[in-house]
Amino acid sequence: MPHLFDPLEIRGVALRNRIGVSPMCMYSSSDGFANEWHMVHLGARAIGGAALVLTEATAVEPRGRISPQDLGIWSDNHIQPLKEITQFISGHGAIPGMQLAHAGRKAGTSPPWEGNQPLNDNNGGWTPVGPSNIPFNKNHREPNELNLEEISEITSSFSDAAIRAKESGMQWLELHAAHGYLLHQFLSPISNTRDDQYGGTFENRIRLTIETVQSIRNVWPDNYPLAIRLSTTDWIEGGWTVEDTIKLVHILKELGVDLIDCSSGGSSPNASIPRGAGFQVPFAERIRRETEMTTAAVGFITEPMQADEIIRNQRADLVLLGREMLRDPYWPQRASRELDQRDNIAIPSQYNQAEK
Ligand SMILES: Cc1cc2nc3c(=O)[nH]c(=O)nc-3n(C[C@H](O)[C@H](O)[C@H](O)COP(=O)(O)O)c2cc1C
Repeated sequence: MPHLFDPLEIRGVALRNRIGVSPMCMYSSSDGFANEWHMVHLGARAIGGAALVLTEATAVEPRGRISPQDLGIWSDNHIQPLKEITQFISGHGAIPGMQLAHAGRKAGTSPPWEGNQPLNDNNGGWTPVGPSNIPFNKNHREPNELNLEEISEITSSFSDAAIRAKESGMQWLELHAAHGYLLHQFLSPISNTRDDQYGGTFENRIRLTIETVQSIRNVWPDNYPLAIRLSTTDWIEGGWTVEDTIKLVHILKELGVDLIDCSSGGSSPNASIPRGAGFQVPFAERIRRETEMTTAAVGFITEPMQADEIIRNQRADLVLLGREMLRDPYWPQRASRELDQRDNIAIPSQYNQAEK
C-alpha cells in the first residue's frame, strides 16, 4: 500500500514523496522575470521537503498574464534567472516544474491585494483575447475573439515556452487548462460560442487543448513528465462536466500526458462551488479509477493524516498543497514527524542540529 512518503516515478523523473507545491501566482515579477522573491519562495519549499515544486502560472505570451506582475517565459531572456532557481531546487532533492499558462479573457487584472480588478490601458492593462468576445463578468473587459492564425500562434507560444522551460532546468511541465483561463475557455460552452473547428461540438472545443499538448509533447523530452491541470467540472448548468473530463482524459493519455491535476471551477462567476476539506479529491479518485490515469488531488488538503489517507487509499497518486504551503513551507517535514516517517525525509545538513 503506497503512503505519503513513498517515492513516485513517472517517465525518467523520481519524486521523493507524494507532496507537491501547487502553482501559486506571486504577483512579484517585472516583465515576467523571476527574481529573489521566487528564489526564496520556491527554494524554501524545496528545503521544506516537498517532492515537486511548481512555479506559478507562467505566461507564454505577455497578453496571457493574469496580472502584469506574473512570471513569464515568452523570451529567451527569462531563462537565466529561472536556471538559478531550478539549480537550487534540484540541489535540495526536489523536482522543479513549471506551470505554462495563458489567461485569455481573464488576463490583465490587478493583484489580490489591489482588488483583483480588470485594468484599463491607462493603469497597465490590455485588451484580452478569448475564444469568443464574451467577457468573464460585467467588470471584465470584452475579449477579442481569436482568429485561426492567432490560435496557431498561441499553440507555438506554448511549445516555444516548453523549450525554454527545459533550457531553464525544469523537469516537469504542467499545462494550465483550468480555472477559466484560455484553454479552459475553449473547453467550456460557457465561454466558447464559436462556430468554426474550435467551437460547438466536444471534439471542436477540445481541439486547442489537444493541439497544445501535441505541440508541447513534440519538444518536451520523452523522459520528463507532462501534466495538465483541468477544471474537472464548471459547477454550473450548461458547463463542462466530469463526464467531459473523463472523455478528454482518455484522449490525453494517448497523447503522452502523464498526470491529471484535478481542480475545478473558474469559468463562471455564477457557479456555486461547495468548497470544503478535500472537496475535489473525489474527482481525482474517479478519474484515476475510470481512466487508469495518474492523478493529483488538490484543494483544502491541510492535514498530514488527510493527505496520507488520500495516497494510502489510492484516491490519487500525488497531493498538491496551495495555501497550506504558504502558511508552512516546512509542512512536509512536519508531516513526516506526525506520520512517524522521519527517516523518510531529507533534512538539509545545515538544519541537522535541530534534530538532536
Ligand atoms: C495565492 C494563490 C495563487 C494561485 N495561483 C494559481 C496559479 O498560478 N495556477 C493555478 O493553477 N492555481 C493557482 N492557485 C490555486 C492553487 O494552486 C490551488 O489549486 C488552490 O489554492 C486550492 O488548494 P489549497 O486549498 O491547498 O490552497 C492559486 C491559489 C492561491 C492561494
